This record gives sequence, structure tokens and C-alpha cells, in this order.
Amino acid sequence: QDVAQLVATGSIPSSAEIDALLATAHERYAATTDGRVADYIPVLGAADPSKFGMSLVTADGRTHSLGDSAHTFSIQSISKAFVYALVCDALGHEVVHDRVGVNNTGLPFNSVVALELNGGSPLNPMVNAGAIATTALVHADPTLRWEAIHAGLSAFAGRELQLDEEVFASEMLTNHRNRAIAHLLTSYTRLDPEPLGVVETYTKQCSLSVTAADLAVMGATLADGGVNPVTGQRVVSEQAARDTLAVLASCGMYERSGEWLFEIGLPAKSGVSGGILAVAPGKGALAVFSPPLDEAGNSVRGQRVCAYLSRALALNLF
Ligand code: DON
Repeated sequence: QDVAQLVATGSIPSSAEIDALLATAHERYAATTDGRVADYIPVLGAADPSKFGMSLVTADGRTHSLGDSAHTFSIQSISKAFVYALVCDALGHEVVHDRVGVNNTGLPFNSVVALELNGGSPLNPMVNAGAIATTALVHADPTLRWEAIHAGLSAFAGRELQLDEEVFASEMLTNHRNRAIAHLLTSYTRLDPEPLGVVETYTKQCSLSVTAADLAVMGATLADGGVNPVTGQRVVSEQAARDTLAVLASCGMYERSGEWLFEIGLPAKSGVSGGILAVAPGKGALAVFSPPLDEAGNSVRGQRVCAYLSRALALNLF
């Protein structure tokens, strides 16, 4: 769609301009009925498709929110970005590059075939196989692994995130595909700890409860080179933040990452519960929540809002 660039390139939009643009985006896309709520995790099928919230946090810590921005939902795949950042921070660029990879699979996020076609390499940390391999690198011990992830993601958000026990239980009953992926990784000697324990931690990280406002703070921490701009705490190194944003650009929107970069021009990550987080390096982050998804598993309204605001705020990197 043809949307005018409303803010001059290079200029910093005022708070009033940002609020006005969020309101316009909400109004433009509130009536959208395209997309379907995910139901392969049974409890997600009960999500209210009309929920629609957005939040933008600038790299200097200003927060702008609209609609259902305080509504909680499970973070799902958006957690992959932050666990990856923590692992990059702890182990460094080379180790993570060698163990997980950085290239797009061109296949759906839960593909088993992608692993088989690539000699057991998950290719990147944003698909389920690569995320499970990344979670395994946090710690061999399941308790310490979960504690590190819970504390790390909470530091990104600037508050202690809670586990959604209902989502966790629902997904643990149905995550046979992820268990198969973990066993396959083990058979290729790509996973050191006990595989089902890693799937459990991975499922827990996906079940952390967040709001669009939390996600925007988490993204703004990556935009701000690893420092949470609201709390002032350094969460990961500048290098780890940069590595994460590079992988979000190439792989964050799965097999649609190329199209996303072509149209919107920002590193981003989606989750099946309906969240999308887009990060403008050095500037801030935008998070949208709306449960109906397209076939690749990306929120339909979320994509449209990001396209509109990327254009209107002149955020496209290219
Ligand atoms: O492992 C899964 O299938 C879910 N816990 C997360 C998948 C997901 O969010 C994909 N995103 N669009």
C-alpha cells in the first residue's frame, strides 16, 4: 500500500508525532479480518482475535503504547531472539556461528526436512531446531539453564517475567514435533544435554508471559546496543546485540524474511501467539500484538502496522 513517509529521514520524531502515527496505524488496521489464530498449541486457539495492541520504545527509553498493549500473551518464538543474544554474549560470535549457523532455511519454522537436508545443521537460531540447539548452549543443567533464561529475558524486559503455566502445560502435551527435532539433533551430535530436558526448557521460554509494552522494551535493549534504555542495565554486549539483529534480519520472519526486509527493512521476530517485534538499530523498537496469523505464522495486523510505521517514521534501514 502507498503510505507517505511522514517524518523526515534523519530527524527524531517528537513524542506527539509518534503518538499520532500509532493512533493512525491502529485505526487503519483495527478492522482487518485476515489471518487465523494458531491452534496447533491447543490453548492458543482460544485467543481473542480482536485483541490489538502496540508499543514503541525509543533507544532513549521513551514509551508509547496504544490499544491492548498491556494484554499478556506467551512470547513464543520471539524468545528465540533473546536467548540467542544471551548465548552470543556468553560464548561469543564464533562458537554460536559454528554450532547453530546464521542462514535462512527457506522452510517453515518447525521443519524436520530442513535438518535432514543439511546434515543435521539447524542453519539458524530462529527456527525451532536452531532455537533448541541454542537453548542447549545456555547450560547443561536444566535448572541452571532455566534460571539463566528466566533472569536474562526478565532483564531485557526490565521486570520479572512470569511463566504462563497453562500455555506451558498445553504445549508440553502436544510438542511431539519439537521432541523429534531434539532427538534428531542428538543423533547428529548437535545437542549435548539430554534432549527432552532441552525441549522442556525451550517450551518454558516460549511460555513466558509478556505484553507488547514488554516486547518493545526488550527490542529497544537490542536497538540500544545491549543496554536496557528504561532500567539502564547492560544486559548483553554490543557485539551480542549486533549479532542478534543480523540474524533477525536474515531469519526472524522465517521463509518470509526476504520479503519482510524488502518491504519493511528492519530486523524483526514473530511468534505464533501473535506478537511481532521490529527493531530499528540505534532508534528503538516497535511491538505489535494481534493473534490472527498468515500461513508462515506471522501476525497479519502486526505486519501491516510495522509496514506502515516503518514507512511513516522513515525507519527502513536501506
Ligand atoms: O515451538 C513452537 O512451535 C512454539 N513454541 C513457538 C513457535 C513460534 O512462535 C513460531 N512463530 N511464528
